Amino acid sequence: MEEKQRAAEERGEEERKGWARKAWESIRAVRERSPLVQCITNFVSMDLMANTLLAGGASPAMVHCLQEIPDFTPHADSLCINIGTLSPDWVLSMKASASLAAEKGRPWVLDPVAVSASDFRMTVCLDLVQLRPTVIRGNASEIMALSSASLGPNKGVDSSHGTMDAVEAARSLAQRSGAIVAVSGAVDVITDGQRVVGVRNGVAMMQRITATGCAVTALIAAFVAANPSNPFEATACSLSIFGVAGELGMDMAKGPASLRMHMIDSLHGLDEPTLLSRVNITSLSG
Ligand SMILES: *[C@@H]1O[C@H](CO)[C@@H](O)[C@H](O)[C@H]1NC(C)=O
Ligand SMILES: *[C@@H]1O[C@H](CO)[C@@H](O)[C@H](O)[C@H]1NC(C)=O
Repeated sequence: MEEKQRAAEERGEEERKGWARKAWESIRAVRERSPLVQCITNFVSMDLMANTLLAGGASPAMVHCLQEIPDFTPHADSLCINIGTLSPDWVLSMKASASLAAEKGRPWVLDPVAVSASDFRMTVCLDLVQLRPTVIRGNASEIMALSSASLGPNKGVDSSHGTMDAVEAARSLAQRSGAIVAVSGAVDVITDGQRVVGVRNGVAMMQRITATGCAVTALIAAFVAANPSNPFEATACSLSIFGVAGELGMDMAKGPASLRMHMIDSLHGLDEPTLLSRVNITSLSG
């Protein structure tokens, strides 16, 4: 019995090490290729998002003007759309940019911030999902609300009743949208509709800093751009790496404000041995 348990633990550790290697290769690719990530994002997140992309090795561009999109989006390696501070004219830019990215075969990532806060937000998000994002990342309530609404009228599950759990909601949304779906939480869950992996990195204090969720969505956009052959793995790796930066930052931080600074420093300075020992991604399915 004990031997069986030890064998299972060893297999788990082998799997973790395999993911850690992938994570290192994926951040190396970002650093080497320095993908240009166009961000159409909310006002609150712009600073942290741009700095997170720079520290990760990517090039941020905060371009949301409708008139610039035909010239700009075709040159971006990926696109991040975040609905945090939505207004009707921005929606035109979001749709134009997402359509163009999809047309050019470039990955794009959707962050459905507070999607259930208004009918307008939900309608916009459902329209954006139709434009086939490569990845959708939200927290459990956002993914459950979007998944439920995307089932159509009367078919949705009322998430306030807690009848649909986040993993099932993510899986169902991934299957219907064709996107990789990531749910942030104490354990981040990533699924392509079949495979499900869990990421156990990061610290709770990261939630005390505004826009950490927005920033990791942009980092995902950089990782899928630099690792185009496997967006599922790139998504899991970027969530883990951002979490590791938070863990390292927490060793030096006194609170949220200094964590923000140390987290950016740690992401910038992340080295191979540290990453290999800290990445904690494991399969949750099969
Ligand atoms: C998800 O994010 C929204 C918007 O920031 C917030 O209102 C909500 O409480 C969050 N839900 C969870 C489960 O963290
Ligand atoms: C990964 O997470 C599990 C569950 O929390 C924990 O037991 C394990 O020590 C972690 N491994 C690493 C390398 O952090």
